Amino acid sequence: MIETKDGFGRQIDYMRISVTDRCNLRCVYCMPQEEQQFLPQEMLLTATQWETVCRAAAQVGIRKVRITGGEPLMRQDIVELVERIANIPKIERVVMTTNGVCLAQKAKALQKAGLQGVNISLDTCDRAQYQALTNRDAFFDVKKSILHCLDIGLPVKINCVPVSGLEKQDFLQMAELARTLPLVVRFIEMMPIGAGAKYQPIPNENIQQQLIQRYGAWEQVHTKDSGSPAVYWQNKRFWGKIGWISPRSHSFCHLCNRIRITAEGHLKLCLHHPANGDLKTILTQYTDIAQIQQYLMEQIQQKPKDGHMTDESRPMWKIGG
Ligand code: 5AD
Ligand code: SF4
Repeated sequence: MIETKDGFGRQIDYMRISVTDRCNLRCVYCMPQEEQQFLPQEMLLTATQWETVCRAAAQVGIRKVRITGGEPLMRQDIVELVERIANIPKIERVVMTTNGVCLAQKAKALQKAGLQGVNISLDTCDRAQYQALTNRDAFFDVKKSILHCLDIGLPVKINCVPVSGLEKQDFLQMAELARTLPLVVRFIEMMPIGAGAKYQPIPNENIQQQLIQRYGAWEQVHTKDSGSPAVYWQNKRFWGKIGWISPRSHSFCHLCNRIRITAEGHLKLCLHHPANGDLKTILTQYTDIAQIQQYLMEQIQQKPKDGHMTDESRPMWKIGG
C-alpha cells in the first residue's frame, strides 16, 4: 500500500474538497453581504472530474475525503458525487461539512450513497442571534437537520465558532446540545482568514473555564485520529462530547495530515498558504490517472512545514473551511 509522506515525514491521508463556492448563508465572519462573484458553473469540477481526482488521491494514500464548500448541498449532483467517491475502493471515509440548512431533505439519500458523518455549522442556539450572524432565518431548519441525522444514525459534529463582540453568545447552551444529545459540539477559534480577520478570537480557554465551572471535571478522550487538530472532552453527565480546535492558541502543523482542493480545482497544501497547482487544467491535459497520481505525489512533497497565519488572502468560502 502506498502511503505518501511529505517532505517533513507527515503521512498525508486526508483530503478536503470544496465542491462549490456558493452558499445560502452569509455568515458575518465568512461571506460579506454584498452580492458575491461566484465561480461560473463551468469553472467548477464536474462529478466525473472529482471522481478522477479522488481515485488518483486514493492511489497516493488518501483514505478520508471531506466534502466542503461554500455549502456543498448547493450542488444539485451532491448525492451522486458522494456515491462516486464513496465507491472508490481505498477511500475508507467520506464525510461532509455543511451549514445544515438543506440537510434534513437530503440526509437519508446521502447516507445511502455512503456518507459516514456530517459536521454541521451552528454558532448559536438563539434564533435571533443565528439570523444576525448568518443573515438568514434558518435556525429551525438546521435544528431539524441535526435531529433528523441523529434519528437516522448519521453521526453529527456541531462546529461552533465563538464570535467576539456578540452579546451573550451562550456557550453553555451550545454545550447543552452535547449533554442532551449523542453528538459532539466543537468550539473552533476564529482564524484570521477573509472576513474572520476583523474579529478578535476568543481563546478556547475562556469557554473551557465556563464548562468546568458549570459541569465539574472533564476527562480528555484519546482518539484514533492522530491527524485531527481537535482535542475531545467527556463528562459523565454528557451523552455526547465536547471538542476543541484551537489554532490560535496551539499550533498543530507538525501533525497535519491533510491537503485541500478549492472549488475551481486549485490544490492547497496548507490552509494558510496560497494555492499551488491547478488541477482543472491538469485534468484536461492528462487523460491517464497515473499522471494525475504522479502530479499529486510531487505536489505533496512541496507541502509547507507550517502555516503560521501567513499570506493567504482568499476567504474561507473559497477554500473550504
Ligand atoms: N475561522 C474559523 N472557522 C471559520 N469558518 C468559516 N470561517 C472561519 C474562520 N475565519 C467555519 C464555519 C464552518 C466551517 C466550514 O468553517 O463556521 O463551521
Ligand atoms: Fe456559508 Fe459556511 Fe461561510 Fe457561513 S461560514 S457563509 S455557512 S460557507
